[in-house]
Amino acid sequence: MTTRVTASAPGKVNLVLFSARQDHRGYHPLYSIFETLDLRETVTVSAAKSLSGHPGTTDGITVHTVVSVADSLTNARLSEQINDLDPQQNLAVRAVSLIRSIAGEKGRGTPNVDIEVVKRIPIAGGMAGGSADAAAALVAANEFFHTELEPSSLERLGRRLGADVPSCLTGGMSLGLGYGDHMRRLDDGGTPRHHWVMLMAHEGLSTPAVFAQFDSQYRGRDTLAQTLLPEHEHIASSPAEDIATVLHNDLEATVRDMRPDLDATFRAVSRTDALGALLSGSGPTIAVLARDREHAQVLQGRLSRDATVAGAVVTSGPAQPAKVENT
Ligand code: C5P
Repeated sequence: MTTRVTASAPGKVNLVLFSARQDHRGYHPLYSIFETLDLRETVTVSAAKSLSGHPGTTDGITVHTVVSVADSLTNARLSEQINDLDPQQNLAVRAVSLIRSIAGEKGRGTPNVDIEVVKRIPIAGGMAGGSADAAAALVAANEFFHTELEPSSLERLGRRLGADVPSCLTGGMSLGLGYGDHMRRLDDGGTPRHHWVMLMAHEGLSTPAVFAQFDSQYRGRDTLAQTLLPEHEHIASSPAEDIATVLHNDLEATVRDMRPDLDATFRAVSRTDALGALLSGSGPTIAVLARDREHAQVLQGRLSRDATVAGAVVTSGPAQPAKVENT
């Protein structure tokens, strides 16, 4: 019997994010091109050692989170905040719980488990950190409980947990339609690497609050393309210089209204020779595109000194899909 499985899943930046108005289900149809990034969350599922009744326990599943995104003091504070949350709201717990009930339906064992989540993706930053937790947890639990679900089934389950979960499962570069959760992989062996500096803000943002403000400003599009647009046809084979010309996020104007502090960060970026920059997802992280890794490191050094920037992380994409790391 397997006693311990670790899986990882990538964060993302939306190179292009077009959003329609809220629909009858309260969600926003999207046309989005995702690039997954080499900042990965890891989730370990193991046979339960913890005593039930531990604060992070629900239904025989105990979760513990270790944040590793900033300096040790900040990491300790963020870890404590997350570990104080209701485990039923934790996406990794919900993912493991879904797989465990499928294991039960298939007549497999459904032992109690411990989950450890190690977070490297900025929190509440528009980079799908919570969704990556869910994606890694689905993959780890699928292996742990021997449920043998195909990637398409995991994607279906992922969609139930959050609109960004399928992109974290799929990895690479992909077109997301529907609510941004129906993926078509775009990259192949010829896709060049893109190097980014992700600028974290001092405070996070709530995605529902951003979408609500977007609606109140009537910024949603009337129609959205249902297939890859001609101007994006070569995006997966494009070098960074060309990617820079198509970067666009419909939520950016709304988020800049909500968070005027980001204007100063964008101004600081415009004083550098970065190829381009845009808000990542629903923000407030700003993604800055560099020519290559060395350029990204120079930009990181410069931008991390800006008072409006809480931290600057160098990363690159596209990234590997969610995958088992070791068993
Ligand atoms: O799917 P997820 O739970 O990650 O989404 C968080 C929130 O973001 C939703 O509750 C909804 O308010 C908003 N959202 C949306 N349309 C999308 C994706 C997310 O309105 N396509």
